[in-house]
Amino acid sequence: MLYQKETAYQPVGQFEDNRFEKIHNVIYKSSDKASILVAEEIASLIKEKQNKKENCVLGLATGSSPIKVYEELVRMHREEGLSFENVITFNLDEYYPMEKSNIQSYFFFMHEHLFNHINILPENINIPDGRASLENPNQYCIDYEMKIKNAGGLDFQLLGIGRTGHIGFNEPGSHENSGTRIITLDHITRVDAGPAFLGIDNVPRKAITMGIGTVKSAKRIVLLAWGSNKGDIIKQTIEGEISTEFPATYLQKHNNTTFILDEGAAEKLTRIKTPWLTRSCIWDDDLKLKAVVWLSNKLGTSILKLTDKDYNDNGMSSLLSQEGTAYDLNIRIFNKLQHTITGWPGGKPYADDSNRPERATPAKKRVIIFSPHPDDDVISMGGTFDRLVQQGHEVHVAYQTSGNIAVSDEEALKFAEISQEISSDSHKTCEIIDFLKNKKGNENIDSLEVRKLKGIIRKRESLAATRYLGLPDENVHFLNLPFYETGTIKKGKISKDDIDIMMSIIDNVKPHQIYAAGDLADPHGTHKVCLDALFIALEKIKVKEYMKDCWVWLYRGAWHEWDSNEIEMAVPLSPDQVLRKRHAIFYHQTQKDGVMFQGDDSREFWVRVEDRNRLTAEKYNAFGLADYAAMEAFKRYFF
Ligand code: F6R
Repeated sequence: MLYQKETAYQPVGQFEDNRFEKIHNVIYKSSDKASILVAEEIASLIKEKQNKKENCVLGLATGSSPIKVYEELVRMHREEGLSFENVITFNLDEYYPMEKSNIQSYFFFMHEHLFNHINILPENINIPDGRASLENPNQYCIDYEMKIKNAGGLDFQLLGIGRTGHIGFNEPGSHENSGTRIITLDHITRVDAGPAFLGIDNVPRKAITMGIGTVKSAKRIVLLAWGSNKGDIIKQTIEGEISTEFPATYLQKHNNTTFILDEGAAEKLTRIKTPWLTRSCIWDDDLKLKAVVWLSNKLGTSILKLTDKDYNDNGMSSLLSQEGTAYDLNIRIFNKLQHTITGWPGGKPYADDSNRPERATPAKKRVIIFSPHPDDDVISMGGTFDRLVQQGHEVHVAYQTSGNIAVSDEEALKFAEISQEISSDSHKTCEIIDFLKNKKGNENIDSLEVRKLKGIIRKRESLAATRYLGLPDENVHFLNLPFYETGTIKKGKISKDDIDIMMSIIDNVKPHQIYAAGDLADPHGTHKVCLDALFIALEKIKVKEYMKDCWVWLYRGAWHEWDSNEIEMAVPLSPDQVLRKRHAIFYHQTQKDGVMFQGDDSREFWVRVEDRNRLTAEKYNAFGLADYAAMEAFKRYFF
C-alpha cells in the first residue's frame, strides 16, 4: 500500500538476484529516511579516512535528488561535530556558459546547500568553471580530470539520474570511457531544468561534465532516484541492456554501485510491478487485483474471458491453485472493479451502500477540495466537483498556494495596463508597470507588488471557474500557504504556519470528505509539499470527534493517473459533463497556450486531462465493464 505510515527504518525492497536486475539497489518508503542513510555512509567514510590521516575525495552532484543528503551532512557537522577538513570535493558538472554568481549555477547551489555551512577548506572545493571568459575550455576539462587523479581518485561518487538516463550531464551518445568535457544538453534535460530557469528558453544549451569514465573510476558509487517520474529510466538502467542510448546503464559494469530508490522510482521494476514473474508470491487481495488487471491488459482480453491457460502461461499458476478456477477469480475481480464505479461521489442517499465506494449517510456532506494550485481542482476532478455541487453537498474549495509564479510577465503587464487605463493615478500600478517593463529575463525576483498582482490574477480566474460550477464565493478559500511565497521556483520548508492554516480550514468546515492531490511524481514539487502539509495536519487534528467521520480521497495531479488496480472510486463523466469540465478549465486563461510549467508534454492541460479521463474509461471498458465517455479516479487515504 502506497500510503501506509512508516513503521520502521527498514528498506521495503532489497536487490534480488533475479534474471532482470543488473545493478544492486535498495528501495525505501521515504526519500528523506533514505537520504539520511546515504549521509551516514558518507560520514563514516570521512571519519574512517580521518582515522587513517588520509583525505577523503568525494564526487558530488546537484539537482533535487541529493538535497536532503546535504542537509543531513550539515546537521551532522553542526550537531555532531563531523569535520570536513580532510575532504576534497569534485562536482560533476556546471552549465556552460554560466557565471558563478548566477542563482541557477551549480556553484551557487553547492554553496547554498553544503559548502557555506561546513568547515571544508575553500581550496578543496572543485566545481567545473562554466564562465564564458574561460580561455581554453578544452584544456580546462583535461586539467579537471588530472586534478581528480592527482587527488588520489574519487573515493565516493554521489549521483542523480536524468530522465534521459544521463549521469552528470553525460547525455545519450556519451562514450563509456569519456572524460571531463563540454557537451550539448538533451532537449528533455533542458525541459526538466526549465522551471528553475523560469522557462526552457533561459536554460543554457551546453554544460561541462565529468565523463562516464571519470564517474566509473570512483571506488564507490551511490545513485539516488526519487519519485515516479524516474520510474521508467530506473527500470531501463537496472534491467535494460548496456547502451550508449541510456548512459547510466554503463554503471552495470561497476562492481560497487548501489541505487537508492523510493517507492515511486522503483515502481516500474519487474519485481515490484509484476512480482509473480520473479518469485513465488503471497497472494493478498491487492496483489490478486494487480495481477488480474495486468493480465487482462497484457492479453487485451476482458476479465471474464481470462482462462486457466492465460494464468498458467503468465507466471500465475500459484494464484490459480489458491483460487480454484479462473472462473471464480475472474468474477471476484470483475465485481471488485465494478464496485469502484459511482456517479455519486458524495454517497448515494438512502441507497444500500455496502458495495459502493462512499457512505450513504449523511445524505448531505460537508466537503473540502484541496487544490495545490488554483486550477488543479477543475483539471483533476472538475467532473466530480460538479457532481458534488449538483448533488447538494456543501462543497468548499481550498487553494493551497497562490500559484503566482506561473503567471507570465506579459499577462501581468496586460492586467496592470488595463488597471492603469481605468484609473491612471494609481501609484502602485505605475510601479508595477515600470518594474515589468524593466525586468531583465529571469535574473531578478519579482517585486512583492508584482507577485501580489500575479496571485490576484490567478485568484480571479479560479473564482470565475468556481462560480461557473455553482459554488458561492464564501466557500472558496485562498490559503496562500507561506512555504510557496519565495518568489522563486525553489520553495521554503513547511512550517507551523502552513500546518496551522491547513488545520484551521479543516476545523472550520468539519468535513465528511476531503479531496486532495496525491501527487508523488516529484517529491520536491509543490504538489507533494501540499500533500505532506495535509498529512501532517490530519495527524494533528484526527483526535477531534468529527474527524472520525471524515474520509480522504486522493486524486492525481495534472500529470499522472492512478493505475487501474489502485483506483477505489471511479466517477464517470457524460459527454456533456466533459464539456462543462473543459469550460471550467478554460477560465484559467493564464495557464493556456504554452504555459511556463508545461513539462515535456506540449498538449494544453484540458487536452491532457480529457485524454487521461477518456483513457481511464477505456480501460474499464476493456476489462468488460460499462462504456463511459470519461472517468475521474480516486484512491482513499487512511489516516
Ligand atoms: C547534477 C547532475 C544531473 C542530475 C540529474 C537529476 O549535478 O549531474 O545528472 O543528477 O539531472 O536531477 P534531479 O536530481 O534534479 O532529478
